[in-house]
Amino acid sequence: MLSESSAAVVTATLPAVQAHGEAITGRFYQRMFDAHPELLDVFNRGNQATGQQKAALAAAVVAYAEHLTGDGRVPWGPILDRIAHKHASLGITATQYTIVGRHLLAAVGEVLGDAVTAEVAAAWDEVYWLLACELIAREARLYTLAGVAEDGAVWRDWRVVARTRETADVVSFTLVPADGAPAPAFTPGQYVSVAVDLDGGRGQQIRQYSLSGRPGAPDWRITVKRVRGAGDAPDGMVSTYLHERVAAGDTLRLSPPFGEVSALGDGGPLLLVSAGIGLTPALSALEHLAATEPEREVVLVHADRTPSAHARREELPRLQERLPNLSVRLWYEDATDGELAGLKAEVAEGLVDPARIPLSPGARVHLCGPVPFMSLVRGGLLRRGVPPERIAYEVFGPGMLRD
Ligand SMILES: Cc1cc2nc3c(=O)[nH]c(=O)nc-3n(C[C@H](O)[C@H](O)[C@H](O)COP(=O)(O)OP(=O)(O)OC[C@H]3O[C@@H](n4cnc5c(N)ncnc54)[C@H](O)[C@@H]3O)c2cc1C
Ligand code: HEM
Repeated sequence: MLSESSAAVVTATLPAVQAHGEAITGRFYQRMFDAHPELLDVFNRGNQATGQQKAALAAAVVAYAEHLTGDGRVPWGPILDRIAHKHASLGITATQYTIVGRHLLAAVGEVLGDAVTAEVAAAWDEVYWLLACELIAREARLYTLAGVAEDGAVWRDWRVVARTRETADVVSFTLVPADGAPAPAFTPGQYVSVAVDLDGGRGQQIRQYSLSGRPGAPDWRITVKRVRGAGDAPDGMVSTYLHERVAAGDTLRLSPPFGEVSALGDGGPLLLVSAGIGLTPALSALEHLAATEPEREVVLVHADRTPSAHARREELPRLQERLPNLSVRLWYEDATDGELAGLKAEVAEGLVDPARIPLSPGARVHLCGPVPFMSLVRGGLLRRGVPPERIAYEVFGPGMLRD
């Protein structure tokens, strides 16, 4: 709990912090990377360049301050879970919170200037450490559950046993632990962090990839879309590296599985809705259900540019044989380039229409795809009466959907 005196100060200064949130976090990152250049290897440089990470950090700090002062409109628990899982997958340590705290609070002082009296600084220091302690505690628990022996020591070598080209822009990697240990268990929807050393001494970068194979299999699978540059935006660093440099026989550094979003629902009807490379959690869920609950009622809705851009679609007929209550509905922007033998699916042309998504009473929903796609589908399902707590979703980047 925030002390009473600090609560009053935080309430009074929250509008200013909120208004300057991204300026503060922008300044924070500059200061922190100047003092600790080694952290450039931990943070995602793409998200730094696009500003997505500073927006997510500012939004989280403001939402937490609102939560503490009783003005919170957004449920706080899911935000905390999301951050803790992401941090754990990156091997963030308790000691690093001191560095972040020092530079974040100094950045508040720099941006807000004289408005930051000693009293204001002390109140925001209290907010920061309450939040930090909650995160550190959750992360410590996640490390213990994942069998991580030492705080933050998440990295383990995995050997690439197969590399499979799925489409022009998508490749899957099949991986086994390099030390011969069994692959750890995971829940469909969970992801791993992958750390790579970029060419030309550009340092390390870490990205998350959802596990796209069956939990319990002797190997893990990740399915990676190559992010191509457009206009001034460069090619994606890690996806390009994985596509161009990594082959069967190579070794990759992976974290244990983390992620708070399950793609399995609660045992009743399940609606899996994906677009583009967002199909990876759904594929893992379908593989798992085919092995464990083949009678489950499942609707798979997938949207893609064309049938040939739709990765791993040739696996769907076999999954339908194993899941008799699986129905498939596909939306392609351009559906002309080919049918798939053996697939029983309704195929429509154009963008997905949430009003036409089949909806069983009581269905649990899992969404994954670009943010505008998920916002559209979630909004449509909410309007059709699906309660928000029945709709789980995974953003393939920092932050969460906004209502
Ligand atoms: C939980 C989770 C699960 C995920 N699962 C998957 C998955 O299963 N499969 C998958 O393929 N991906 C997945 N992702 C996405 C993945 O982690 C990466 O974000 C993706 O591969 C792109 O990484 P990159 O290094 O190639 O691109 P980055 O280098 O990070 O670039 C990202 C974007 O930023 C732009 N950018 C970079 N620098 C600049 C600049 N200076 N100016 C303007 N724009 C710039 C790039 O052009 C690009 O569009 C997942 C993400 C999360 C968070
Ligand atoms: C109270 C303190 C902190 C808060 C509120 C916070 C908040 C966040 C948020 C909101 C995200 C985005 C989560 C998402 O993917 O949606 C994030 C990611 C991240 N955080 Fe923190 N964080 C804190 C401390 C730290 C510390 C101590 C470190 C270690 C140096 C750290 C490193 C990272 C990294 C590397 C990412 C991923 C960056 C990216 O993908 O762009 N954070 N954090």
